[in-house]
Amino acid sequence: MQPHSPLLQVTGVEARIDDSAVLRGIDFEVRPDSVFCLMGRNGVGKTSTLRSITGLLPVRRGTIRFEGRPIHRLRPEQRARLGLGYVPQGREIFPMLTVEENLRIAGVARGRGIGDDLDRVYTLFPVLREFLPRKGGNLSGGQQQQLAIARALLTRPKLLILDEPTEGIQPNIIDQIGDAIALLRREGGMSILLVEQYLDFCQELGDDFAIIERGKVVANGPMESLGKDLVRTYLTV
Ligand SMILES: Nc1ncnc2c1ncn2[C@@H]1O[C@H](COP(=O)(O)OP(=O)(O)OP(=O)(O)O)[C@@H](O)[C@H]1O
Ligand SMILES: [Mg+2]
Repeated sequence: MQPHSPLLQVTGVEARIDDSAVLRGIDFEVRPDSVFCLMGRNGVGKTSTLRSITGLLPVRRGTIRFEGRPIHRLRPEQRARLGLGYVPQGREIFPMLTVEENLRIAGVARGRGIGDDLDRVYTLFPVLREFLPRKGGNLSGGQQQQLAIARALLTRPKLLILDEPTEGIQPNIIDQIGDAIALLRREGGMSILLVEQYLDFCQELGDDFAIIERGKVVANGPMESLGKDLVRTYLTV
């Protein structure tokens, strides 16, 4: 990979669910060591975009490159192995497993132990160490989100993909998740692709943004260029 080439490059992506064109032209690039925010109102295609990147929604047209290599024909587990870590909307931890078991599963996915990396996620989210023996399903929504992010981090992704991590979560945990994202960004070695409707969170953490409207990217650029007009037209309800 060239030093300045994008980590992820999504070009002209189109996808359908049943008979409807849910993605009609998705274009954006995520730079190395950066936080990218994908924004837009409800139902515009944000989650579908992430699913097309991770391999859960087939790409009908367009290309997705990761570290310069086309990945849009690979299976989801092949893409995961290349370094895509995905935390779906609504988290999806294992409710009947303990916190510790939920974390250890990441090691299975990765094919080796996670020993030292556990300390790193406990530093980011101290509550997880405290609740190791608890069932995942007994944590609060925000704690489950932290667990889901921790689990994705333990697979050592090059791109961490988060779908609305602040949705339905109490403000103090939103702050902790924001702090964790900021810390991970400072550490480098990984980019974060964040789908988020909470504008302040994006503006605080994001380096670049794209806005989706009815399946198309209608605006993108550095976060500083996200002005009031764009916010009014595409983001406020
Ligand atoms: N399984 C499905 N079957 C049929 N239509 C679907 C399905 N999943 C999504 N859609 C439709 O595809 C469009 C895009 O949905 P998507 O979930 O990608 O939007 P989103 O931007 O993530 O929305 P939200 O902000 O509510 O999470 C919506 O119009 C939705 O109704
Ligand atoms: Mg969604």
